[in-house]
Amino acid sequence: MARLMSSHFLYFVLAIIFSKAISSWADLSLSKKTPALFIFGDSTVDSGNNNYIQTIPENQANYPPYGQNGFFKGPTGRFTDGRVIVDFIAEYAKLPLIPPFLQPSAEFLNGANFASGGAGVLPETNQGQAIDLQKQLKYFEEVQNSLTEKLGDVQARELISEAVYFISIGSNDYMGGYLGNPKMQASFPPEQYISMVIGNLTQAIQLLYQKGGRKFGFLSLSPLGCLPALRALNTNAEGGCLEEASALALAHNNALSAVLTNLEHILKGFKYSNSNFYNWLNDRMHHPDKYDFKDGVNACCGTGPYGGVFSCGGKKAVSDYKVCDNAEGYVWWDSFHPTERIHEQFAKALWSGPPFSVRPYNLEELFYSNENLTIADIVDNPNDVGSNTFA
Ligand SMILES: *[C@@H]1O[C@H](CO)[C@@H](O)[C@H](O)[C@H]1NC(C)=O
Ligand SMILES: *[C@@H]1O[C@H](CO)[C@@H](O)[C@H](O)[C@H]1NC(C)=O
Repeated sequence: MARLMSSHFLYFVLAIIFSKAISSWADLSLSKKTPALFIFGDSTVDSGNNNYIQTIPENQANYPPYGQNGFFKGPTGRFTDGRVIVDFIAEYAKLPLIPPFLQPSAEFLNGANFASGGAGVLPETNQGQAIDLQKQLKYFEEVQNSLTEKLGDVQARELISEAVYFISIGSNDYMGGYLGNPKMQASFPPEQYISMVIGNLTQAIQLLYQKGGRKFGFLSLSPLGCLPALRALNTNAEGGCLEEASALALAHNNALSAVLTNLEHILKGFKYSNSNFYNWLNDRMHHPDKYDFKDGVNACCGTGPYGGVFSCGGKKAVSDYKVCDNAEGYVWWDSFHPTERIHEQFAKALWSGPPFSVRPYNLEELFYSNENLTIADIVDNPNDVGSNTFA
């Protein structure tokens, strides 16, 4: 009788253990299908963090006519007429919209957006008016800790290592941070300044790698001198783009490409997707009709030449502004930021573009390149400083 009871008891215990094992496997395979998306950057990808910080109206977009195209109920803090590139990427990856980190009571199981309009790679850029890259990384660590608490160590690690880290930052370092800052220009020649920006960006990538990140997506810088705001600053008799600014962006892009090629060799398991946003945008500005745009030069929302006076919304330094009737026909939404249609076209190209425009992987490949990542890789990887508890 005692033997019978204990074998029943044993069976009972085994059944519990077994069902627990099954359910945790089910959770794991579920999380495999939808890798999370973590976003770092500036106004190109901010989805509302700046609604929650003290800053100037130039760094906010939570007032009309931002968001006017009706996809969202009203302005959200996105610097365009509707969605931004990462909203489309989330949709293609079958993820819900990724919430801004500062949004109260947001859940981060599918990722988090740390981007902040006005932010730069360097803390000096627009200091005190945006969440710089280093602060964004601190916030990421907070999310990582809370995921570990919520999911446990192994599952949190898997989420972190399978997630895609999308980074779009640097324009503000060259515009406000350098060209708009005579002191910085006097202290550093352009090459030295670029290597400082690239050096800090490289450190940020390495830090995310140490935390367990493996898959990285980058939006390279656009021809900055052709933004309506900078075009309007060009004092050359012939007008046109401000070449000085575009040259900085191009040099930055080339330096970043070289760094990424190196990191791929140095860091085991590091995978990335880089794009040529510069050429894409140039092509659309010069041949708008080829892509079904009417205007590649002027801002839909703004004042002055090219709509280059940054007044969209009437809450900034200049309060008079005009909005065009058909934002879909424009490449530029306001003096600095493209329309939703541009965001969508770029998201599509990044998601499924061919190797000559998005390399070495496109985002779809990055999201689904999980075959060779096992739990053992994640916990035993000696390069992964974060895995000490398992070593
Ligand atoms: C990072 O930027 C700071 C200026 O904020 C600079 O002094 C430092 O040298 C840069 N680091 C690297 C690795 O380039
Ligand atoms: C997975 O591993 C196999 C064998 O090592 C390799 O041939 C294949 O390219 C790897 N796949 C990915 C996506 O890394």
